[in-house]
Amino acid sequence: MESIQFSKPTISLEKSDYTEIHKIINSGWVSIGVNVERLEAEFRSRYKVKHAIACSSCTQGLVVVMKAAGWRNKKVAVQPFTWPSTVYAIESNIGNVPVFCDIDPETWLIDINNLPVKAYDAVLAVDTFGNQAEIKTNKPVIYDSAHGFDLKDLGHRGIAEVISFSFTKVVSASEGGMILTNDNRLAETASELRRLSCRMPEINAVIALRSLKNYEKNQEAKIKIIDRYLKSFEFKFNTQRIQSCTNYSVFSILLDTPDERDAIAHALKKSGVEFKTYYDPLVSGLKNIDSVYSRILSLPVYPQIADVQDKICDIINAAAKSASIAQKIRHYSSSVPTPGKRYLKKSGYLDTYLRKQL
Ligand SMILES: Cc1ncc(COP(=O)(O)O)c(C=O)c1O
Repeated sequence: MESIQFSKPTISLEKSDYTEIHKIINSGWVSIGVNVERLEAEFRSRYKVKHAIACSSCTQGLVVVMKAAGWRNKKVAVQPFTWPSTVYAIESNIGNVPVFCDIDPETWLIDINNLPVKAYDAVLAVDTFGNQAEIKTNKPVIYDSAHGFDLKDLGHRGIAEVISFSFTKVVSASEGGMILTNDNRLAETASELRRLSCRMPEINAVIALRSLKNYEKNQEAKIKIIDRYLKSFEFKFNTQRIQSCTNYSVFSILLDTPDERDAIAHALKKSGVEFKTYYDPLVSGLKNIDSVYSRILSLPVYPQIADVQDKICDIINAAAKSASIAQKIRHYSSSVPTPGKRYLKKSGYLDTYLRKQL
């Protein structure tokens, strides 16, 4: 079997898109133009939200939103079971420190009840793998909705939400993000900061507009792939409990034991099937996160794998069956290092975190 990537962008442009791209290049208006405005209008009407501000990435969108919201010198509650961008964004604004909080063991969403209310000033909540987070607190909340395209309450949670259009997402601009907010003042400042630091190129907007049109078709194919996995597996496993809705942005299973997960991971690697053990936690020592991380396996779910999916299932089933033989393979994590993690480790948040535990 040929090697299988973990994810592949489902970008497919049509003739009219290439014509538009030519027009953009010839016009010289290559950033925040009519296509970006079209994309923003689509989001405003789709989610009945007052402001949609397209930007260069979700990471930069989060930085801008926090700056626009005046979050400085804040203790920001966040789950370390996330992509490093979430914490990078917190630390990019002056004086902010992350206060790490454990997740719910079933939904893998931040469980804010694990922190005393006095321990944090604000929350940056993550829609883990596309599972919609809903935070009940009197403190201000921003949603890292990188994986949150099309969640049912999108556009109406917290003071702002930021979506990602990177190449692994259900709707992709190749790279990009979208800030959603109903706060006029925040939107005004965020738009200004976006012009300064994270403009969305027009070409990316053309790609995102096409991706939006293809979303239903691609999503249907993806759900079929997930369904086939669920029906084919011949061993005990768990999946993420959906709190109220999900878009299945990332599909992960939770094995009963780390040995079983590691045996399956080893077999997949040997056969050239790329997998992830998302998310590599930014700190260890939080019970539920450590437990989930030691047993989680995220699998490829893009439509192009349909033809080889039965083979992938066979590999997984065979490995799960012989898991007891493979007990010496310990703690398998995906081979590609997580970008930014080393920088964050050096940047001081770990000290802050450890001091809080003492
Ligand atoms: C939870 C989370 N936040 C932020 C990001 C960063 O998004 P972007 O690559 O658009 O900056 C990601 C990327 O996948 C993510 O998973």
